[in-house]
Amino acid sequence: MLTNSDGVREALAGQGYLAGPDLATAVFLAQDLGLPLLLEGEAGVGKTEVARAIAAATGAALVRLQCHEGIDVHQALYDWDHPRQLLALRAAELGSGEADVDLWCERFLLERPLLRALRAEGPTVLLIDEIDRADDAFEAFLLELLSDFAVTIPELGTVTAAQRPLVILTSNRTRELHDALKRRCLYQWIDYPDPVRELAILRVRAPGVTDDVAERVVAAVARLREQELYKQPGVGETVAWARALTALGDGARLDDALGAVLKVREDQERVRALGVLAGG
Ligand SMILES: Nc1ncnc2c1ncn2[C@@H]1O[C@H](COP(=O)(O)OP(=O)(O)O)[C@@H](O)[C@H]1O
Ligand SMILES: [Mg+2]
Repeated sequence: MLTNSDGVREALAGQGYLAGPDLATAVFLAQDLGLPLLLEGEAGVGKTEVARAIAAATGAALVRLQCHEGIDVHQALYDWDHPRQLLALRAAELGSGEADVDLWCERFLLERPLLRALRAEGPTVLLIDEIDRADDAFEAFLLELLSDFAVTIPELGTVTAAQRPLVILTSNRTRELHDALKRRCLYQWIDYPDPVRELAILRVRAPGVTDDVAERVVAAVARLREQELYKQPGVGETVAWARALTALGDGARLDDALGAVLKVREDQERVRALGVLAGG
């Protein structure tokens, strides 16, 4: 199905995701060459969603690792079920369990997303989301994992992926990632959609919205994105704004539902002061 970038575009559109030509090509290449794909872009441009859409379109399982500050191997790869280990120990002591419990075996292993993706039987999309939130050490660990698709768990041995997952990494670019990681990946910057594509996205994501509201909202969002704001509206905000105006009914002004699109007080004040929504 994903035999070329047009095929990718159609398959993603079938899942309600409208990709631009660059992104479709990048997804095709990542899949065809078996390379991880690093997606960077502002919040709300569709980085997370495209991984979901790829998984759904290809019938692959989606495994998501949400990165955060301080994330470590035990949250990302595996952990040991300490309460269960303790219970087993106690049972053994009381003579009601096995005499000699092996505490470091599969029974007490907790699979976290990365291990789940490595051990998955069928095709898998591994989404490593917002990797810019993790620290350097974790990035180095990921780099190793992405080189061999194998990890060693000291107590258990080495786990190697039978079938390599398609890996999508995303970054909101709150910091630069290391060159070494970038060298492993294909790279694609995702921009806000142009108004034509954003209108098309609105039709798919918010079918109950009239053309008039959709066009006003898309034009206004484009104007907002030209302003210096703390938080630029993403595609999700466009959809939310259009839905809110539709709920308010005939005669609703853009300003009436500003809270659906701008979530920082100073941004709202600035936009009002500058009259960016004038006439809407
Ligand atoms: N190209 C697109 N086609 C359809 N929906 C999109 C597209 N881009 C973004 N969206 C919608 O916008 C919202 C935000 O996208 P998301 O993937 O969460 O952004 P990011 O991960 O880049 O912050 C999602 O609800 C998604 O459905
Ligand atoms: Mg995201």
